[in-house]
Amino acid sequence: MINFWSYDIEYKENRSKFLKIFDKTYKSGQIFFGKNLENFENNFKKKYKSKYGLAVGSGTDALLISLMSLNIKRGDEVITASNTAIPTISAIVNSGAIPILVDIDENYLIDISKLKKSINKKTKAIIPVHLYGKPCKMDEIIQISKKYKIHVVEDCAQAQGAKFRGKYVGTFGTFGCFSFYPTKILGGYGDGGFILTNNYQLYKNAKSIRFYGIDTVDKKNKFFNKYYSNISGVNSRLDELNAKILDFKLKKIDTFIKKRRNIAKIYHKELKDSSLTLPQSSKSTFDVYHLYNVYHKKRDLIIKRLLREGVQTRIIYPYPIHKMKGYKKFFKKKSFPISEVRSKGIFSLPIYPNLKIKDVRIICKKLKNVLKSLK
Ligand SMILES: Cc1ncc(COP(=O)(O)O)c(C=O)c1O
Repeated sequence: MINFWSYDIEYKENRSKFLKIFDKTYKSGQIFFGKNLENFENNFKKKYKSKYGLAVGSGTDALLISLMSLNIKRGDEVITASNTAIPTISAIVNSGAIPILVDIDENYLIDISKLKKSINKKTKAIIPVHLYGKPCKMDEIIQISKKYKIHVVEDCAQAQGAKFRGKYVGTFGTFGCFSFYPTKILGGYGDGGFILTNNYQLYKNAKSIRFYGIDTVDKKNKFFNKYYSNISGVNSRLDELNAKILDFKLKKIDTFIKKRRNIAKIYHKELKDSSLTLPQSSKSTFDVYHLYNVYHKKRDLIIKRLLREGVQTRIIYPYPIHKMKGYKKFFKKKSFPISEVRSKGIFSLPIYPNLKIKDVRIICKKLKNVLKSLK
């Protein structure tokens, strides 16, 4: 079986290093908020050319804490794409804001031509989601946000290291939010997330909010790091062990991305004449292929046959968020036709740095045979 994703090879390759990290971390006597976290935060923000960086407990928390830092109030509106992961919406809802959806374009990203119509006096922020590793058109989004004076909180959970016109995603908006869920571009061994910003006051807010609202930035504050909160917060920590593992993996991130892009190149070359709709690359974006997402009307049959042939695939995402029982009550608008049509035909092929090229070729061969058998 060719798995959709696996960390087996990576773990085997790095096991002795990880065991050393484990031992050194726990011998230090510090489980949270130690040197490992400090180093990781510094290295991450330097790598992505931002002034401030803050590690948190997950990508969902990164979005939630960013929104809370903007002092979003009940009844404010936050706009995002209708084809996204549940956490983008759960972060908006948990911040107290009303999520406003905008349908997607041909790249599965927020349709900017429809964005302006959704902005009104209540709009506080836009969350562009760089889905599947593809950057949104950030020049146009930033232009709109400046015109209407609204914040941009970038959801980079699937796009760490991607660039729009040479600039890293996560560095355009007020906040850039990242996820270290194990399958992600920088995958941890557990949950984790990160917030980038260039705004000192907002960094200070976010850093307090991740720690119950306690100020851990301003040493002149008489309540500095005391058990006292000025703003209400949450508990969202990245522990020392995961921080060190992520710091170690961060050094290899460009190689991970190179490998993903190489696999995507093979898929593209092998499948370009097939009946699948493939992801399109463009000159203005540097895509990192968190997922290699394709579309076919006979998706269900294809993935069933591929599985029989020993190839696992996944549908990301099979149900549009506005159709889900737990979330549909939050949306005023009930129909997002492009997301609905796409959700019925999309599926993702295996892609991760340690996937063997030999296996990529096997996937292509089997997939082409399955597609032929449909005729
Ligand atoms: C687009 C998107 N946003 C947010 C998240 C949330 O990240 P996490 O799982 O680390 O909370 C994810 C991860 O699943 C995601 O894919």
